[in-house]
Formats: sequence, C-alpha cells, structure tokens
Amino acid sequence: MTTTLFIKANNRQGAVTSRLYDAFFNSYREAHPNDAVVEVDLYQERIPLLDDIMISGNFKSAMGMELSEEEQAVRDIVNRHLEQFLAADKLVFAFPLWNLTVPAVLHAYLDYMHHPRKTFKYTEQGLVGLLGDKKAALLNARGGIYAEGDPSEMAVSFVKNHLNVFGITDITTIIIEGHNQFRDRSEEIIEEGLRRAAEAAKLF
Ligand SMILES: Cc1cc2nc3c(=O)[nH]c(=O)nc-3n(C[C@H](O)[C@H](O)[C@H](O)COP(=O)(O)O)c2cc1C
Repeated sequence: MTTTLFIKANNRQGAVTSRLYDAFFNSYREAHPNDAVVEVDLYQERIPLLDDIMISGNFKSAMGMELSEEEQAVRDIVNRHLEQFLAADKLVFAFPLWNLTVPAVLHAYLDYMHHPRKTFKYTEQGLVGLLGDKKAALLNARGGIYAEGDPSEMAVSFVKNHLNVFGITDITTIIIEGHNQFRDRSEEIIEEGLRRAAEAAKLF
C-alpha cells in the first residue's frame, strides 16, 4: 500500500498555507482512496532544536554507545520522525515564506532527516542520496513575487535542496504568490492557486 506523509508547518490563523494544504489534502484523499495517509502538524509536535544533546545522542547512537537519559529522550523524538519519513512513499510539505525562509519548526524537522546510511551516504564523489524512490510535493504561499532562482527566496529552495541531498528529485511545486503585493487581486490569486493544488493532488 502507498503511504503518503503530509507535513504542515504553519499554525497562523487564516494562513494561506493552511488553505493550500486543505485543498491538496482533500483532493488527494478523493483521488487516492486506498492510500494510507499520515499527517504531521509540526506546531502540534514537540520539535527540539538541533543542539549539543541531539548531536551527541545521534553520534553515540550511530557508534552503538550508551546515551544519557536526556540524549535518549531527544533521540527518540528524532527517530520517530525519521522512521515515519523513511516509511512514506510520497511526501507533501506545506509551508509559508516567512522572513525569507521556512518556519523554524520545519528547519528543525529537516535536521532530523540528515542521517548517514539512512537518507544519504558519503562517497568519494560527495554525498549520495538514498531516497530516490520517493516523490515529494511542496505547497508554498508567499505574499510577494519572487523570480525563479532569486537568492532571497530561501523557503522553496531550502526544502528542495534538503530533499535533493536525500536523492529526492521528483518534486512537484505549487506556489501561491503575490497576494499581498497585489491586494486588489488577492482572493483571485489565492483561489487560482488552490485550484492548481487540487488538480496537482489528483496526479500526485
Ligand atoms: C511573519 C511573517 C513573515 C513574512 N515574510 C515574508 C517575506 O519574507 N516575503 C514575502 O513575500 N512575504 C512574507 N510574508 C507574507 C506571507 O508570505 C504570506 O502571508 C503567505 O500567505 C504565507 O503565509 P501564510 O501561509 O501564513 O499566509 C510574511 C508573513 C508573515 C506573517
């Protein structure tokens, strides 16, 4: 059975990201009634930041060493998310552009996925991703308009770069943008993006 993991990184009241998520999610469920769907709402989870305890716990765990109680508690959280990520065939991320980048919870969550021998391996040619059989959809909302490759846009590019490191290159991207910049057409821009999301979900 195909398993699809939905990862949401926004808890703002009335967020466009949430509308985008719902449009994609509902259409996906309708078009893929037999798929297993798992939802992770990052603002509802305890997402510890990458720090000394997490790094030392990860290292000790990889070396088969004993972890302190504190390290083990954090390691358990990381592992739970990592295993859930690995078990999914398809990944859907919904996130806004806030202050040029992603919400900190998503940054922290992606830190959990960097695991040698599980998501990538080191070779003489550099890092090689191990998850090339997965595909992903990125659902993003941003108030302004950003040209493709604009270095000040560090949300979509950020998530894509992480996924590429894990070998995930089959990525569908749905962006709603410019609804804050063009206030007079705001709802029209959003509605058109929601339609695109619903259509993309059917084919995902
Ligand atoms: C805290 C915050 C920071 C934001 N920073 C940016 C930004 O850097 N660039 C931009 O184009 N829009 C920015 N916006 C507008 C959002 O991109 C816009 O509201 C979009 O719909 C995504 O956020 P939402 O899903 O919370 O609505 C920001 C909005 C908030 C609330």
